[in-house]
Amino acid sequence: MVKINPDTLVFGIIGYPLSHSLSPIMHNKAFEYKGINAIYLYFPCKKIEGVVSGMKSLSIKGLSVTIPHKEKICEYLDEIEPIAEKIKAVNTLVNKGDLIVGYNTDAYGAIRALKDKTKELKEKKALIIGAGGAARAIAFALKEEKAYIIIANRTKHRGETLAKEIDAEFLPFSDIKKSEPDIIIQTTPVGMYPEVDKVPVFSEEIFRKRPLVMDIVYNPLETKFLKMAKKKGCEVIPGVEMFVYQGARQFEIWTGAEAPIQFMKDTVISFLKGEIR
Ligand code: ATR
Repeated sequence: MVKINPDTLVFGIIGYPLSHSLSPIMHNKAFEYKGINAIYLYFPCKKIEGVVSGMKSLSIKGLSVTIPHKEKICEYLDEIEPIAEKIKAVNTLVNKGDLIVGYNTDAYGAIRALKDKTKELKEKKALIIGAGGAARAIAFALKEEKAYIIIANRTKHRGETLAKEIDAEFLPFSDIKKSEPDIIIQTTPVGMYPEVDKVPVFSEEIFRKRPLVMDIVYNPLETKFLKMAKKKGCEVIPGVEMFVYQGARQFEIWTGAEAPIQFMKDTVISFLKGEIR
């Protein structure tokens, strides 16, 4: 437990509901590890109208933003970094005195997790499963990397809309086996605890060319989708990688200090295994 004094910097997370967020344990442990006088709190919040002025008047240094506010909060910010502006969603707020600035570290986290396994994303064929907020961030980030993107989504209209926006190909789930991707990124909540036996697509043919497969679901640590991919000989990236990298980037934006990435990863994994509380 941090010793609180007048210099303690205050950070936190806004969203609703917040009970499942792992950001508080990850950031508080990281502050403690690095000896930074800071605390990270839960701010369950249904209405966001007062968030920006509240941050300024209470000197809250930074906030994570999660479901359902990542898009709506953009209307209230003083500045938004360019990639977040394109994505039209932010997951990180920084209090720069007179200005509250929004960032999207999900995009950064996804690319960094992928680049640990494949140095070059340029011209790689990337199949993104899903077309929601997380898919959007990853799709725009991959576009910046000049990957060739295919969006597959259950709801045609939503998938087509995102595909059009980033000049990508759209595939309905029924045609997904036609794709021969180098990389697959699973962005839907399917397979998340407690529904750990579910997968978003059933065709194992998508693993034919042994693509690199990333799932953004991090609880369980290895989803059924990743297990299927592994069985077919694919290299896999569990969701905890992207989660930790997006958090590490937040940590660095907020504190200016290097994030203890391995320590943050160990913390999240230990927590998910029930080894720490
Ligand atoms: P997030 O911000 O976490 O990405 P979201 O914006 O609600 O969440 O998007 C969820 C994504 O998961 C969508 O692509 C959704 O597909 P639809 O557009 O068809 O709703 C997808 N999704 C959610 N549940 C799904 C399921 N049971 N099977 C397949 N796709 C699912």
